[in-house]
Amino acid sequence: MSSTVCVLRRHEIAWHPMETLVVDHPLVAHKLTALRDVRTDSPTFRRLADELVTLLAYEATRDVRVTDVTVETPVAPAHGVRLAKPHPLVVPILRAGLGMLDGMTRLLPTAEVGFLGMIRNESTLQAETYATRLPDDLSGRQCFVVDPMLATGGTLAAAVQFLFERGAVDVTAICLLAAPEGLAHMDKVFANSGKPIRVVTAALDERLNDSGYIVPGLGDAGDRLYGVV
Ligand code: URA
Repeated sequence: MSSTVCVLRRHEIAWHPMETLVVDHPLVAHKLTALRDVRTDSPTFRRLADELVTLLAYEATRDVRVTDVTVETPVAPAHGVRLAKPHPLVVPILRAGLGMLDGMTRLLPTAEVGFLGMIRNESTLQAETYATRLPDDLSGRQCFVVDPMLATGGTLAAAVQFLFERGAVDVTAICLLAAPEGLAHMDKVFANSGKPIRVVTAALDERLNDSGYIVPGLGDAGDRLYGVV
């Protein structure tokens, strides 16, 4: 009897320009559908978001840096790998990104965590940083930004720019949902930057509506995670 070994290599994943990966998996689609449903209450929403992030993080960390190590099994030495130092940095964007933090650190327990609070300045319409808790020097760091909704892309672009300015070597954004307008904005901002940036998402939705919500989307991610405050 013959058996088949299937190894998923990076070039076999559907990377789009600017390295956007829409994770095509029935479990991801199943959880995302329940997350979108307006009848899903906050506790269930939080649990589903958490589970979904872990699935997305699995693909998002495909290029995480490792170093070769050898360990002793009870039988013999075995060659393997360990996450390289400096350890990756996970950066949730406040407030909704907090709902994705546990799912990330479950998969990357040795990662460090930094925080970025971003808000849109209503006069300039530019995203501005109102809170940071990050190492000053991110030289050599791989960063994973978590923010559930890539809508206009203004906040994410500003966050990614901030990390590059501190020396990050590459940045991967993990978003539950993305809008074409947001991806186009990221493309425009970073196309000629020569910086490695990628976006990993569970779905690419149709568009933004006039209020800046993703359609069909899932509504306000922060409100659905934490209630309207
Ligand atoms: N932020 C959200 O929470 N939802 C959207 O649809 C767009 C931005």
